[in-house]
Amino acid sequence: MLNPPSSDFFSSERAHALLRRLDPQAVPAHVAIIMDGNGRWAEARGLPRAAGHRAGAKAIEETIAAAKECGIRYLTIYSFSTENWRRPHEEVSALMGLFVEVLRANMSDLMRQGVRVRVIGELDSMPSRTAKAFSSAVTQTAGNGDLDLVVALNYGARDEIVRAARALARDAVAGVISADDVDEAALEERLYTAGLPDPDLLIRTSGEMRLSNFLLWQVAYSEIRVTDVLWPDFCRDDLLEAVVDFQGRERRFGGR
Ligand code: IPE
Ligand code: IPE
Ligand code: MG
Repeated sequence: MLNPPSSDFFSSERAHALLRRLDPQAVPAHVAIIMDGNGRWAEARGLPRAAGHRAGAKAIEETIAAAKECGIRYLTIYSFSTENWRRPHEEVSALMGLFVEVLRANMSDLMRQGVRVRVIGELDSMPSRTAKAFSSAVTQTAGNGDLDLVVALNYGARDEIVRAARALARDAVAGVISADDVDEAALEERLYTAGLPDPDLLIRTSGEMRLSNFLLWQVAYSEIRVTDVLWPDFCRDDLLEAVVDFQGRERRFGGR
């Protein structure tokens, strides 16, 4: 009797089938991901939550490679929200340390892959080691142009919109802009994401059907995909599948 096919076989069969269906001309330019489920992944294995975050970092590496493979130009990853400070100190500090470690360990790969790192969120109020690691990654990778990796760090969409409103108010008082000239473009220029296209596709892992304060302005017309896969289990084929699913959607932007 033949040996049963290995899980690698199924994985490569799935990848081949997906690649056959993928239209390279219609790849979403910008994919944003709410990477959720690290804690559940760890708890299911009797491991500390930090182990889930570490496994989640591996999934980011795989996702970056897969994004490049399909020709995605911008990849935004929700890494730490303004609300995540509410978590136990031990978990927050494990995450802050992990960010530094993972950035360091991956810097040469990011350079090799032509990845430009950009941060959205309030870096100044992060622990200085973490803030420095990100600032130096942004500087080091500034000349790369194959894939923009936008890391949402200490990011909250309401906070972002309030900051933009504050900047507009200041500019109005200073006479830089008049109240009548405040329009969508003027607000967008003052968001963290100024200059980035809106996400075409928003993915959330681990089955939760909510936005959790992520890119509330920018996802106005994004296609949404929620998968039950926990973030540490998210792999190349899951991204390919999300892109193929996206390509089957009819985007209308309110028209008909
Ligand atoms: C996402 O995984 C990672 C961060 C929010 C930093 P969670 O830690 O939220 O995992 P669950 O939702 O508890 O499973
Ligand atoms: C969203 O996940 C934040 C990140 C992925 C960084 P959460 O786990 O914090 O969201 P809620 O609390 O389930 O809404
Ligand atoms: Mg969560």
